[in-house]
Amino acid sequence: MSTLDARHRAYQSKLAEFGQAHLLSFWPQLDDQQRSQLLDDLDQVDFVRCAPLINSYVRQRPAVHVPQHIEPPECYPAAGEVGKMVGSAHPTEYAQARRAGEDAIHAGRVAAFMVAGGQGTRLGYDGPKGAFRITPVRDAPLFQVFAEGLLGTARRYGRRPHWYIMTSLTNHAETTAFFEQNRYFGLSPDDVTFFRQGQMPAFLPDGRIALAERHRVALSPDGHGGSLRALADNGALADMRRRGIDTISYFQVDNPLVRVIDPLFIGLHLVTGSEMSSKAVRKAYDEERVGVFCQVDGQLEVIEYSDMPDELMRARNPDATRRFDAGSIAIHILSRAFVERLTTFNSAVQLPWHRADKQVTTVDEAGNQVKPASPNAVKLEMLVFDAIPLARNPLVLYTRREEEFSPVKNAAGVDSPATAQRDLIRRAARWLDTSGVTVPRAADGEPALPIEISPAFALDAADLQQQLKTPPVLTTGKPALFA
Ligand code: UD1
Repeated sequence: MSTLDARHRAYQSKLAEFGQAHLLSFWPQLDDQQRSQLLDDLDQVDFVRCAPLINSYVRQRPAVHVPQHIEPPECYPAAGEVGKMVGSAHPTEYAQARRAGEDAIHAGRVAAFMVAGGQGTRLGYDGPKGAFRITPVRDAPLFQVFAEGLLGTARRYGRRPHWYIMTSLTNHAETTAFFEQNRYFGLSPDDVTFFRQGQMPAFLPDGRIALAERHRVALSPDGHGGSLRALADNGALADMRRRGIDTISYFQVDNPLVRVIDPLFIGLHLVTGSEMSSKAVRKAYDEERVGVFCQVDGQLEVIEYSDMPDELMRARNPDATRRFDAGSIAIHILSRAFVERLTTFNSAVQLPWHRADKQVTTVDEAGNQVKPASPNAVKLEMLVFDAIPLARNPLVLYTRREEEFSPVKNAAGVDSPATAQRDLIRRAARWLDTSGVTVPRAADGEPALPIEISPAFALDAADLQQQLKTPPVLTTGKPALFA
């Protein structure tokens, strides 16, 4: 019997046991290559893990837990807005925290961790999102901006942090090839570790796993919450232990303004004994599509924008400011020990699953592909911020949006390449202003030239001031590059 036949037989009984025998219904019509592909897809499915989820999340909607008390959390103010931390529980000064962060970076205890497994559907870009070209002068891709953040960190703090990158099955090969083609953007291949996140199948409402084609299971990444388990399963946590890394700086692939390694944020996390720390910005408007930090029945949590009750989203304080104002920008510091605690076999904690009803291309009984006009299938995802309530001493640090957050999510309009580029230029102009450089401006106050500051050249305004030996002369309309 061929290996293919043996695998087929094994799956025949396994699928029957799990009520998923339909996945092999087109077997007789498939050629050997397709059969092998189908079996490979089935290998990706953890049937034991899926079985209970089908009952509790797919065949019925999970019961919605309605919290009794939702309050705004206490957050650390943005650096520059207040000199000292608030509250008697946090007497440490920011300067001291920043030094602790710098020491940890210098000692090689900090790694960068980027989640880049998403499908970037909204942007409509065909390829890994990090390959999307974003900077205003060099047209450099997102990946390069982050790589240069690490080069700038090495220049400034004397140590180049290791970079872990989570991809997914769909974009892994393209992502690694892109780094190779671009010579790791000045990093060494030894500085970067890529690994793939887990996959989940899409389910039909009756609990059957959907086929995307006669020989393909409809699989998609299991959400950025899957990153914690993926860190464990792919040996990244063990690798961190070997390298002496105990602090993980987590960010998303879509935000070119991110400070990939921020000494103040890292230091606050360390000196307060937090296991998971998060950055927030003040929300731009009530309906902004960002998760909101809340104190839910006494615990710090993120409530996703789609789950935030309307009256809370619009609630105001007596002074007319927004009551729930701390928007999550999906930047976190996690202690390695915390991720180990959540993912170690004996005490592994399951993050909750989130159900989303989606339009998924499937096949009909004759094996023809069907593109649905409305949601026809259920996808399940885990979200990393669901780990916050499991952490000891979690904290939230406000930061200034214009300095650190302008994500590329949509092809046009808000959170698009155009707004991210505008914000990169505005930030560069502000940093130059601080350094005493005259920036030509148009009548509307916008910088009158494209300006780009590579994070390898300067990480913030103070860094730029130090780096500029002679003040440059900027000319209207003439692109200015600091790299
Ligand atoms: C996300 C957050 C939102 C936050 C906002 C800030 C969710 C549900 N919401 O919104 O609270 O305010 O960012 O910009 O996350 N990813 C993976 N694997 C996956 C899914 C996603 O690696 O399986 C990565 C993506 O590559 C991307 C990031 O996670 O880097 C964000 O994913 P996305 O689905 O775009 O989140 P948003 O809805 O934009």
